[in-house]
Amino acid sequence: MATIDDLSRELGGLRGRRVLVRSDLNVPLDGGTITDDGRIRASVPTIRRLADRGARVVVSAHLGRPDGAPDPTFSLAPVAERLGELLGAQVAFATDSVGESAQATVESLHHGRVALLENVRFNAGETSKDDAERGQVADRLAALADAFVSDGFGVVHRKQASVYDVAQRLPAAMGQLVATEIDVLRRLTRIPERPYVVVLGGAKVSDKLGVIDNLLGKADRLLIGGGMAYTFLAAKGYEVGNSLLEADQIPVCREYLERAADRGVLLLPVDVLVTDRFAADAVAEVVRADEIPVDRMGLDIGPESAKAFAAALADARTVFWNGPMGVFEFDAFAAGTRAVAQALTEIDGLSVVGGGDSAAAVRRLGFDETAFGHISTGGGASLEYLEGKKLPGIDVLDAGEREGQRPLNAR
Ligand code: 3PG
Repeated sequence: MATIDDLSRELGGLRGRRVLVRSDLNVPLDGGTITDDGRIRASVPTIRRLADRGARVVVSAHLGRPDGAPDPTFSLAPVAERLGELLGAQVAFATDSVGESAQATVESLHHGRVALLENVRFNAGETSKDDAERGQVADRLAALADAFVSDGFGVVHRKQASVYDVAQRLPAAMGQLVATEIDVLRRLTRIPERPYVVVLGGAKVSDKLGVIDNLLGKADRLLIGGGMAYTFLAAKGYEVGNSLLEADQIPVCREYLERAADRGVLLLPVDVLVTDRFAADAVAEVVRADEIPVDRMGLDIGPESAKAFAAALADARTVFWNGPMGVFEFDAFAAGTRAVAQALTEIDGLSVVGGGDSAAAVRRLGFDETAFGHISTGGGASLEYLEGKKLPGIDVLDAGEREGQRPLNAR
């Protein structure tokens, strides 16, 4: 894949060039206030690098899942402000993503300055399954720029106009964030140092079935906690009370348990913290995983499980962790997630925290980010990579696959 240096050579320097950067600035907001700016911070190095080289940097991004029409709840305006603070320079904000405001903003953008376009998902064509509809958005984005840099790692698993189609219309390269993320994922999948331990949590087991299927034969240990663990416990025949349960997934979880049985690769919680209601001030009680009362819900793994998971991580040389062990947003149910995070900081090898909630959890629980080998910005993207799926936003950058264009380096 071409890099920013290749792009610069291709264009005879970046000074004055309009460079469209697709970033993943999809951050959690609470009433307009950004509660975790990790993805914005991770996007800064590529944007700064381009600006330092005198490019006119035009950033395109999405926020949430609006309905293909403008919706102020999903405006990127607060993100533009935070991006400006982090860059130490004002970021011009276009109030649409491919319309008149975008055109005027880019036109008046000076060398070395940065503009952010409004949420690209305010256009129905951005996420359309129809190539022609996506193509219309991509054409309008491409008209705003001389080159494209793909840096939104968290969204490279989406075949969307600003991720995939626009890359076919402009000289394109990967940004530094995408380069780093892919490098780390390759280290996980090629020849991982062993023991290779994977920790999976989070609410939905259905989101993780593909990755479990693929990792059962690859990881030395697979630890399962969080809301998704209850479907596995139910598959073992345990009562799970009012805990999260995806009953239709019980058969496939049972099959995974059978496949894992002889190698002892799959570890489930042996105890859980239960309560009678989903609330920050709910009173927690420890019970064995096979003794969950019918009127209780499990909101965290218990202390014995936390100890067992930490022990299973202690000698690991490679770890990938995606998904919290419990409702870490409530102090009473954060201990399991904290224990796993702590164990990751202590391993002698490569520890990777897969994006989304687990990345937010380590920051919220006060861990020093540098204590982990890598904190990914992409939850779904890194899971799909580990699942062995193709990532459209990466494949489209592959020089050999760039349809209708000669490889960038050969032009
Ligand atoms: C994410 O939050 O994982 C990325 O920003 C992608 O968002 P999406 O799942 O709405 O496509």
